[in-house]
Amino acid sequence: MKIILTNDYNQMSAVAAEIIASEIKSNAHCVLGLATGSTPIGAYHLLCQMNQAGIISFADVSTVNLDEYVGLPADHNQSYAYFMRKQLFDRVDINQANTHIPCGMAQNLQVECEQYSKLVSTLGVDLQLLGLGSNGHIGFNEPGTPMDSFTHVVQLTQSTIVDNSRLFDDISQVPTRAISMGIADILHAKKILLIASGANKAQAVYDMVAGPVSSNCPASFLQLHPDCTIVIDKGANSILQFE
Ligand code: F6R
Repeated sequence: MKIILTNDYNQMSAVAAEIIASEIKSNAHCVLGLATGSTPIGAYHLLCQMNQAGIISFADVSTVNLDEYVGLPADHNQSYAYFMRKQLFDRVDINQANTHIPCGMAQNLQVECEQYSKLVSTLGVDLQLLGLGSNGHIGFNEPGTPMDSFTHVVQLTQSTIVDNSRLFDDISQVPTRAISMGIADILHAKKILLIASGANKAQAVYDMVAGPVSSNCPASFLQLHPDCTIVIDKGANSILQFE
């Protein structure tokens, strides 16, 4: 694992945006694996600016997102499809037909999961962006998820529901299930870029980098990936104390 320590959220976002931009510059047809949540918003904003300034183009880029809530339609303002349009897709020159997100409204969720895993492997992710759950999850692969898991329906843990409730009017509105790429889908990417900011991620960062490789901390499986970069800020480094 290569660790890049930054001062704060803004610097973390700038470093992440640069890494993603250089992937796009080196391969205009690259396939990006994308994440939602609070952490990547700054990096997405900078990528939008670079696109508007003509520094990078998404015209030939394809994307696959990690996950989506079960039961929220794509136009629901808390769905990850809506988030991606608002934070990135509607603001850059990407062909929206080349953006892919699991469908949380699929009638047969099992079939949706199998098809999505197949799509991810057929496209072949060049660079997978990840956030980090405070309990060590990546995507929605909660503690206990095995390394050989492919896209599947996840029962969200109470801690993740509580973490995510800040974005809903009431915790009772937070979906309890999601579709998520599995650990095996994620590890299949050629390169991985994980970003984490703030002291509430510090224990998960420590377990991911310095702990045993174990499904107790799904992010620790990233230790096994040959090209994984972690960009953290001081708060997220407060237990690991990487120098
Ligand atoms: C979202 C995702 C999740 C988040 C994680 C951190 O697509 O895959 O693993 O990255 O829950 O969320 P934030 O960034 O909101 O702290």
